[in-house]
Amino acid sequence: MKEIDWSSLSFGYMPTDYNVRINYRDGKWGELEVSDSEQINMHIAATCLHYGQETFEGLKAFRGRDGKIRIFRMEENAKRMQSSCAGILMAQLPIERFTEAVLKVVQLNKHFVPPYESGASLYIRPLLIGMSAQVGVSPSKEYLFLIFVTPVGPYFKTGFKPTPYAIMRQYDRVAPLGTGRFKVGGNYAASLVAGEKAHSLGYSAVVYLDAKEKKYIDESGPANFFAIRGNSYITPKSDSILPSVTNKSLMTLAKDLGMTVECRSIEVDELSTFEEAGACGTAAVISPMERIDDVDTDKSYVFGKKGEAGPVCVKLYNKLRAIQYGDEPDIYHWVTIVE
Ligand SMILES: Cc1ncc(COP(=O)(O)O)c(C=O)c1O
Repeated sequence: MKEIDWSSLSFGYMPTDYNVRINYRDGKWGELEVSDSEQINMHIAATCLHYGQETFEGLKAFRGRDGKIRIFRMEENAKRMQSSCAGILMAQLPIERFTEAVLKVVQLNKHFVPPYESGASLYIRPLLIGMSAQVGVSPSKEYLFLIFVTPVGPYFKTGFKPTPYAIMRQYDRVAPLGTGRFKVGGNYAASLVAGEKAHSLGYSAVVYLDAKEKKYIDESGPANFFAIRGNSYITPKSDSILPSVTNKSLMTLAKDLGMTVECRSIEVDELSTFEEAGACGTAAVISPMERIDDVDTDKSYVFGKKGEAGPVCVKLYNKLRAIQYGDEPDIYHWVTIVE
């Protein structure tokens, strides 16, 4: 195996040794198969290709100071994948089949889990796709579930340094009663134009507003939104955002730090009252926001001191990472140790 420079990893794809697969045929899920091929063979009329019948997940494994590998909250991703499958009429994989597959693929690729000191992790990417040939728009009868893994560094190059985000009112990512709460590829395809435009203007990502009224904060392209005011952790309640496992965890940590958690609609104007704001997710962890520019109205909302993550973001980030890497006891039973 080629030497990997763990500390300079970005959030990209690097081949690993094995992936795992389970096929759904004749109304049932088959055996777990191990593959060393990075390719899949599929019909040219597969429903995933034409009608977007696909869902994916993202979770991570971390190597602790003690050398042990810990996987963070994999049952939550299993449940969310089931919910996404229900959302676009695909066969649902039982939770225990999902977790068995995650454990297997991590075990098989153990030496790709970055060392503790690097601050990097192993990204785990489950995927479930419609495989049977269909020309009319209707759900597939056959599915493929697979998981590959790849070592990753920070999602945003700047890591934990606050960066600017943009509201771009000319673009919506999802519809009010659409698929925003499911992790399906179409949502991400719909975010590419606005995302690239934001990048070209120097922003880390887009902060989307609710598509119906353009009045409330929904979420960022690849992550949920949260803000801090006084002793409150405030995060949007919306049917068109992805229920983030990281956000759910941060809400628990915030409560245990004695904070009030408010999960409710957040009007854009309220941004001016927040002391800190951030994007949170498996990939983003916590990415503090320096400011949000409402590019079409020329309004700008600035959070905290320039160049510095706010104190609550720092506290929550450290607490979450400490649990993930095993530096603090796992009192919430969020972590599965890979034997
Ligand atoms: C649109 C979107 N929102 C939020 C998140 C964060 O979710 P999680 O914390 O479960 O990774 C992600 C990443 O998975 C995402 O793609």
